Amino acid sequence: MADGSSFYITTPIFYVNDVPHIGHAYTEVAADVISRWHRQAGEDTWMLTGTDEHGQKILRTATANDVTPKEWADKLVAEAWKPLLETVDIANDDFIRTTDERHEQNVQKFLQHLFDEGHIYTGEYEGYYCVGCEEYKTDSQLVPGTGEFEGQLVCEIHSKPVELLNEKNYFFRMSAFADRLLALYEERPDFVQPESARNEVVSFVRSGLDDLSISRSTFDWGVKVPWDDSHVVYVWFDALLNYITAVGYGQDDAEFARRWPAQHIVGKDILRFHAVIWPAMLMAAGLEVPRGVFGHGWLLVGGEKMSKSKLTGIAPSQITDTFGSDAFRFYFLSAIGFGQDGSFSWEDLAARYQAELANGFGNLASRVVAMIARYCDGAVPTAATLTAADLEIQSIERRATERSWEAIGRLAVHEAIAAAWELVDALNGYLTSEEPWALAKDPAQRDRLETVLAVAYHGLGTLAVLLSPVLPKATAKLWTALGAPGTVQEQRIDRADEVRLGEQVSALEALFPRIEVAG
Ligand code: MSP
Repeated sequence: MADGSSFYITTPIFYVNDVPHIGHAYTEVAADVISRWHRQAGEDTWMLTGTDEHGQKILRTATANDVTPKEWADKLVAEAWKPLLETVDIANDDFIRTTDERHEQNVQKFLQHLFDEGHIYTGEYEGYYCVGCEEYKTDSQLVPGTGEFEGQLVCEIHSKPVELLNEKNYFFRMSAFADRLLALYEERPDFVQPESARNEVVSFVRSGLDDLSISRSTFDWGVKVPWDDSHVVYVWFDALLNYITAVGYGQDDAEFARRWPAQHIVGKDILRFHAVIWPAMLMAAGLEVPRGVFGHGWLLVGGEKMSKSKLTGIAPSQITDTFGSDAFRFYFLSAIGFGQDGSFSWEDLAARYQAELANGFGNLASRVVAMIARYCDGAVPTAATLTAADLEIQSIERRATERSWEAIGRLAVHEAIAAAWELVDALNGYLTSEEPWALAKDPAQRDRLETVLAVAYHGLGTLAVLLSPVLPKATAKLWTALGAPGTVQEQRIDRADEVRLGEQVSALEALFPRIEVAG
């Protein structure tokens, strides 16, 4: 039982150099579904998201647009990143910006602490830097450029040229933590998930860890190094700290103790920052390492990672305007194994919307509610003697409840949805085999009709609860139509099969209306 235990989950904080695309929304939605699930299981849940606003990438974009970086960030946060949360229906508890005072002050506190403890020294570094990644690259991460960049070395992720930098910087003695990191991966095999990500991280650390350059002195858009204000803190070092500055690190010990450690959800491209650098930073500061780091896959377009810089970005609203936010959430989390890459296509989205949401779940809900309205004047009937078919539905309710919660515990979001969907399919099969519309024609079958409708009604209530993290809008409508008390979000998801419903149904509009695709 999950009662009372605390659960803190984070998304990466997003660079504000550009507007969000569906890859960013995917990260948000995944973390949101997991957090809603835990909240509905009675856990003291906290979901954090936010924006990453310092560094050269943002500075350059702002300069190119003739505004200060802070003006640029304010505009993007207000016009693009906060609206994204509405667009895909995110129920975050907090939104942190790295320009917040609560963040900047405590980044300095953290850094000073590491400096005082001898984890930081002055050094010199020369290497290739990718501003897109905000990271120094090793030779193996560079590939020959093509097209306009023919003859130059480019970053393998951004396909843009890297820059040779030579700077006197402050360094974090990260190499000193290699053994402790390896011991951590060994002792807690699920610290880095999925398995493929863990293997990659382990072999990366085994091959030897360098120290990390954590300051820059050639520009000043960042948090000032507390003992030397000619340097700003390296943007990743600054950004990673958001996960603790947002929950009271340095200023509210009780809040920090209540929330930390977090489960981090990140894209696999930024896994190493979270699974190597971040725990090493925390170890150096004497703080607990994260609860875990999950690296999800990429949304691919034309076989490549979707990205605005490569002009393959699709805005989330392009999908939600037509299909709605529930369909967005459902599609990306059920069609792609969480942890794997997935190709997006409009055809696949439209086909799944029709087959699974409209015909599968939506139609089931409409039919059951409409039959109770028609055959019972809207009064929810009670079951009489239960047959094997009825008992089977009840056992599938139990199984779907247990399996989906168990899958969420493993962060296997797609499996959790699939477990709940077994009940959608089972209920549709049940209606087909029990034929309540035929029973309704025969007054001698009244008890049986009422039993079938009562069983189906309860199954639908269980489904509303189980699917509410993924389909918050549709399940809220369904909950109202079922005449059930309170809100669906207040119901315990880990006991969805024991849900208590209402006595009177009301009309239910189509949950997933037919979509006329233009063209
Ligand atoms: N600012 C850093 C994160 C700092 S966290 C302390 C950053 N920002 S980002 O805006 O570039 O990316 C944020 C997230 O979006 C990452 O998890 C990244 O993997 C994800 N995605 C960006 N493009 C994506 C796809 N095409 N597909 C799936 N996720 C993608 O990195």
